[in-house]
Amino acid sequence: MESKGFTENPYKPGAGHRPPFLAGRKEEQSQFAELLKQRVILKNMLLMGLRGVGKTVLLEELKEAAMKSNWAWVGSDLSEAASTDELRMAQRLVTDIALVTSRIKIDSKIEKSAGFLQAKTVVNRYLDYQALVDLYNALSGLPIDRLKEIVKISWIAISSFAPKVEGVVFAYDEAQNMANHPAKEQYPTSLLLDLFQSIQRQDIPAMLVLVGLPTLQKKLIEARTYFERMFETIDLCKLNDKDSTEAILIPLKDKQVGFTDLSVKTIKQMSDGYPYFIQYICKEAFDRFGELESEGREPIVPREEIIAKLDRDFYRRRWDKPTERQKELLAAIAHIDGHEDGFTVQEISEKTKSFLEKPIKSNQVSQMLTALTEMHFVFKRSHGKYFFAVPMLGDFIKRETENWEKIQPGLLNRKNAGEMDSPSASKTPE
Ligand SMILES: Nc1ncnc2c1ncn2[C@@H]1O[C@H](COP(=O)(O)OP(=O)(O)O)[C@@H](O)[C@H]1O
Ligand SMILES: [Mg+2]
Repeated sequence: MESKGFTENPYKPGAGHRPPFLAGRKEEQSQFAELLKQRVILKNMLLMGLRGVGKTVLLEELKEAAMKSNWAWVGSDLSEAASTDELRMAQRLVTDIALVTSRIKIDSKIEKSAGFLQAKTVVNRYLDYQALVDLYNALSGLPIDRLKEIVKISWIAISSFAPKVEGVVFAYDEAQNMANHPAKEQYPTSLLLDLFQSIQRQDIPAMLVLVGLPTLQKKLIEARTYFERMFETIDLCKLNDKDSTEAILIPLKDKQVGFTDLSVKTIKQMSDGYPYFIQYICKEAFDRFGELESEGREPIVPREEIIAKLDRDFYRRRWDKPTERQKELLAAIAHIDGHEDGFTVQEISEKTKSFLEKPIKSNQVSQMLTALTEMHFVFKRSHGKYFFAVPMLGDFIKRETENWEKIQPGLLNRKNAGEMDSPSASKTPE
C-alpha cells in the first residue's frame, strides 16, 4: 500500500473534475446506450440540469461508452462567441467534423461525390480543416445547405475509410449559451437543429448531444417546435440517498480516514444529494477528520465552518450581481414554503406583501424574473413554474438575509416582527 494514496484526499469538487467514484447515473447511461443502437437516428440526446449536478462528468462517461461502441465523438463547450451567428456555428461544426476526417486521403470516390473538388478548389490531399473550408467556400447557398453537403461528403469519406465507425456523436456542453438573434437575422440554434434533422433523414448517422442548464430547453423550443420529437430529454437530478452514500463512502476505501455514520448523515443532509456539494463537503471533512483524529479528538464534520466557506467560494460571487430590489425579490422567494418545488409569479407577489416593506406587483415580478433568468438565478420549466437555477440557493439567501434589517433597512421580515422593533423603526428611505 503506498502511503500517499492512503492519506491523500480523494474528493474532487470542481467543474468537470472526474469524481473518485461516479455514483448512480446507471439509468442515464443505459438510455444513451439505447440511442447508440439506432441505425437511423430518430432521437438525439438533451441532458439538462443545474450547475454542479454532474452533467459534464456524465458526458465524459457517455463519450467512453460511445467510443467503445465504435462511434466517433467530437464536440466542445459552446461559448457564446462560438454561436453568435450562423457563420460561427458553421465554423464550429466544420472544425469538429475535421477532427474525424483530417486523416482521410481524398480519393477518387470522394472527389466524385464532391464534383467541384477536381477544380483547383482543394489543394490539400487530405480532408482536413482547410479542405473542408475550401469546400465550404466553393459551395453556394445558405450556410445550412453548404453544411449539409459537407456532412454528406464527410460521411462518405468516413464510411469508406473507416467502415467500422458506426456514426459520429456531436456533443456540445454549455449549450445554453446558444441563442438565435432575430434582430440580426441570425439563427445559429435553428441552423444546428435543421442541419441534424435534415442529415438524419438522409440516414447519415450523426447524433447530436446537447448538454446545458435547464434554460436550454426553452431556447430549443423557441428555435424549433419539432425539437421535442428530435430529442430524448434527460433531466439530471441530485443523487438519491443510496447513491449519495456511495459517493461519500466508496472513495474512502483504502483510506486512512473513515467517516462515522453520523457524519455521513450530516454530509447527506448538508449536501442534499447535490454532487458538487458532496465532493466539496467531503473534501473539507476528510481533512478535518485527519486533523482531529491525529489530535486524539472525536472527529465530526465542522458544519458551520464548511457552510461559511461554501458561501464564500460558491454563492457570494453570484449574490454580488443582482440589484438591491432584485435581492429583495429573491429573499421573498427563498421564504416561500416549498419554493424548492417551484414558485409562480402570483405566489411571489403575494409573499412580498407580507415580507417586504414595499410589495412587488405581479407584472413587475414577471419582468424581474425575466432579468433574473438571464442572470441564471431562476429558470422557468415548460409547465410554467419557476425554480431557483442554483442548487440550495434558497438556503443561502436565508442565511445571507437573516440579519438584513440591520444592513438593509428597506426590508422588514414580518415573520419575526413580534420579536423585533416597532413598524415605525423600519421606515427608512430606500
Ligand atoms: N455521479 C456523481 N457522483 C459523485 N460525484 C459527482 C457525480 N457527478 C458529478 N460529481 C462531482 O460533482 C461536481 C460537479 O460535476 P460537473 O459534471 O462539473 O457538474 P455540471 O457539469 O452539471 O455543472 C464535480 O466535482 C464532480 O466530480
Ligand atoms: Mg458542466
